[in-house]
Amino acid sequence: MRSTREKPQPARSKGLDDKLYVALAERLATLIDAGTLAVGERIPSVRRLSEQFKVAPGTVLHAYRLLEDQGRIRARPQSGFYVCPTRQPLPEPRSSTPGPRAASPTVGDLVMRMSEMSAAEDVVPLGHAIPNAACLPTQQLNRLSAAISRRTSRGFNYYDVPPGCRELRVQVAKHYIAAGCGLSPDDIVTTSGCQEAIGLCLRAAVEPGGVVVVDSPTYYGILQAIEMLGMRAIEVPTSPRVGVDLEVLERTLSTRKVAACLFVTNCHNPLGFVMPEDRKRKLVHLLARHDVPLIEDDTYGDLAYGDQRPSVCKAFDAHGRVMLCSSFSKTLAPGARVGWCAPGRYLEKVKRLKFCNTIATATLPQLTIAEYLAAGGYAHQLRKMRRIYRDQVHQLSQAVQRNFPPGTRATRPAGGHVLWVELPSGTDSMELFDRAADAKISIAPGPLFSTKGDYRNFIRLNCSVPGDAQLERAIQTLGAFAEDLSRAPTAKVRSA
Ligand SMILES: Cc1ncc(COP(=O)(O)O)c(C=O)c1O
Repeated sequence: MRSTREKPQPARSKGLDDKLYVALAERLATLIDAGTLAVGERIPSVRRLSEQFKVAPGTVLHAYRLLEDQGRIRARPQSGFYVCPTRQPLPEPRSSTPGPRAASPTVGDLVMRMSEMSAAEDVVPLGHAIPNAACLPTQQLNRLSAAISRRTSRGFNYYDVPPGCRELRVQVAKHYIAAGCGLSPDDIVTTSGCQEAIGLCLRAAVEPGGVVVVDSPTYYGILQAIEMLGMRAIEVPTSPRVGVDLEVLERTLSTRKVAACLFVTNCHNPLGFVMPEDRKRKLVHLLARHDVPLIEDDTYGDLAYGDQRPSVCKAFDAHGRVMLCSSFSKTLAPGARVGWCAPGRYLEKVKRLKFCNTIATATLPQLTIAEYLAAGGYAHQLRKMRRIYRDQVHQLSQAVQRNFPPGTRATRPAGGHVLWVELPSGTDSMELFDRAADAKISIAPGPLFSTKGDYRNFIRLNCSVPGDAQLERAIQTLGAFAEDLSRAPTAKVRSA
């Protein structure tokens, strides 16, 4: 039997609709974990298992390839599949310790450099956190959009006005019941993606020059928005498991004039944590005591791997201080640019700002997504994406473990599709970014995620790229560069 690395991979996204092979892989994984199939042991042949479980040989092969991608089994040429030794996962990065100084972020130029780099067709796209196009229901959305266009010309010949298409707002309000929110469609303003929602909420709550507290590291789009609006940011220590340090936040709120907080609470980008519900509740109460609004970015909330949709801080907000922002960019259609916010007591201000900004969000994408949600297939779509991303994050993490130098750490995300990797102390991720760019690999260097150029020895990797030989080679190349840079004489000096 040949290794899957030697031949083209099957179209996994197509096969994933058929849950049989996933169930079979999970069953075998349980046997491996329990030691029934021991390390080094040959697992039953495809033919034997297909007879035993009464499934097609192709289904067994798919299950074996999934287990192989997860690093649980390995094919030996002409011999079969064998159980791999289980590795301890990489250690996690520690909580961040940013200083208390307010700073004006300056990430804009670097974001543009990375964006241009990531847009090139021949690049392995580990930089931008773009969804896996094969996982998106694009054909369905195209069909709905065409049907809507035949039925009504509203998609093109009509000016929508804030708060945006009611059909969509109704669906968003319904969807957020699962996150603990009792939103009315009238609480919601539709926007051009979450990025616009964040910008509108910032402008509604913070004057130019005002201070916004953010988690650290945080998504560079947030820092870019703060930068563009002439505001300043204070980063607070953030744990890769549970989120922002509430004690330090309390001290910051007591000693500094803070206009707003802006936190990613679910499937954090880049750390991957889901903030536990009791901390969400405490955060809302803390901010209420200090009368400070929270802009809550829930862009990835639907992609948490657990069985239940995580709650949002907005669910605990009795006084309209939480401004919840999200979009369908990661789960349905990044190009549709459909997002929204529920800005609480800032609703009227946000509506006026939205009107000034772009008048309204494009109508046809709003109607299309509203119909898609109303038709009821979203829950299935999310289940599929979560499973794919959980597997791919796991695989990429293992590939990093195999190929990166000793001393590397990596997060264990609870959702989404990014991995935050800490390189050995002093390894320069900006230098790694340049070398990777020359090798046609895009990565997101750590300083993008900080106001002051911190996280110089961190990178963020996008894991939505399906595992194949090209990805494996890219990780090997990055690992070799990282190894080399970790030995550079400057590395020691910088980390001193
Ligand atoms: C945490 C976070 N917030 C907001 C955005 C922007 O979302 P959108 O594409 O909907 O504007 C992103 C995009 O990557 C993100 O990761």
